[in-house]
Amino acid sequence: MDWDARNYDRLSDPHVRWGAAVLERLDLAGDETVLDAGCGTGRVTEQLLSRLPRGSVVALDASPAMLGEARARFSRLPGGERVSFVEADLLELTPEYLEGRGRLDAVFSTATFHWVADHERLFANLRSVLRDGGQFVAQCGGEGNIAGVLAAVKRLGAERAGTWLYAPAWETAKRLERAGFGEVRCWCHPDPVSFPDRGALADFLQTVCLREHLGTLEPPERRRFAQRVAEEMPEPVIDYVRLNIVARAI
Ligand SMILES: C[S@@+](CC[C@H](N)C(=O)[O-])C[C@H]1O[C@@H](n2cnc3c(N)ncnc32)[C@H](O)[C@@H]1O
Repeated sequence: MDWDARNYDRLSDPHVRWGAAVLERLDLAGDETVLDAGCGTGRVTEQLLSRLPRGSVVALDASPAMLGEARARFSRLPGGERVSFVEADLLELTPEYLEGRGRLDAVFSTATFHWVADHERLFANLRSVLRDGGQFVAQCGGEGNIAGVLAAVKRLGAERAGTWLYAPAWETAKRLERAGFGEVRCWCHPDPVSFPDRGALADFLQTVCLREHLGTLEPPERRRFAQRVAEEMPEPVIDYVRLNIVARAI
């Protein structure tokens, strides 16, 4: 089931806040070419573009719905012509996808890698599109991420369906080194997100955390299941844990 990109755009304030903090870790002169790997609707990409007044962004995502929203956003935005779009699965990414753009100066990514189960291949693919010395700055869900949501789903007698990997920092660091990165720093930090009430929590769960699971249910069941999970949680708070990555292509 594809993303509900309209609702994601409306509900992704936590992602925009995380993105702003991660973006500060990119060391940019302003004229680089940077890949946003898993750009979604482009709210964080827009912040990245503002750091590149003479540079450009390659906005990549596998979701046609997300890319549609992102294209619409940048068609309205001054400087939006400095963003180009690639519809691709990160697990299939090769330098050929970026034909004509050369090797990139940096790879940036937020809230995406945990949706990709094979991090060995993911990091090798991202290394292949980076120039030597290029920066790799990213954040995604890490070990222990949203354990409270998964526990609530279990208490309702289900296992959350879908593909995800909430990797530990130490294992991620080893994978990055094996993929050709140096100066590797990886760490996890808790970053809980509070919602005003259980209705708002259910909206968010439906659009983000339970999206793949709900795709396995009949349409009339989907909202009801998200609401039951929201009611089952001790409070309207999602216990996010973020895995941070800073590295350099060697
Ligand atoms: C939660 S959104 C994050 C979007 C944006 N970076 C942000 O912070 O708002 C995750 C995005 O990753 C994309 N994604 C997940 N797996 C992917 C894959 N294997 N290849 C490319 N994009 C992928 C999804 O389509 C989605 O747009």
